[in-house]
Amino acid sequence: MTERTFSIIKPDATRRNLTGAVNALIEGAGLRIVGQRRIRLTEDQAKKFYEVHAARPFYNELVSQMIAEPVVVQVLEGDNAVARYREVMGATNPQEAAEGTIRKAFALSIGENSVHGSDSIENAGIEIAQFFTADQIPG
Ligand code: CMP
Repeated sequence: MTERTFSIIKPDATRRNLTGAVNALIEGAGLRIVGQRRIRLTEDQAKKFYEVHAARPFYNELVSQMIAEPVVVQVLEGDNAVARYREVMGATNPQEAAEGTIRKAFALSIGENSVHGSDSIENAGIEIAQFFTADQIPG
């Protein structure tokens, strides 16, 4: 089933000039980048985006890392895009990520793990709507 998912190329990756390398793995996996913008997250945006982790010990560090440098926000489309992108990203902890995944190739640590992807279709819709209006997703 054709779906959309939300992706963020995180500051650790944009800082190391890896946007194109990450996008090559995304496209190589059969996902289309149908919307994309390079932005600076505000502290409010980062806090709201990661609200679900607000009680976790890593929350403050995560928010500061996410606002430290630009990110690339993306809408990805394809068959089973939510699950497919999670496969392509690899495990949250890069030490557990499989060969060929984005996090295995590029992540520095569990916190600086290069990419974010939605964990469900429902959350994909919510996350896309936080960063994109319909006219910013040209297809
Ligand atoms: P992400 O998929 O963006 O969702 C939450 C983020 O919190 C996660 O990727 C990691 O970058 C970050 N994080 C930092 N420490 C941890 C941890 N111990 N467990 C899970 N996520 C963590």
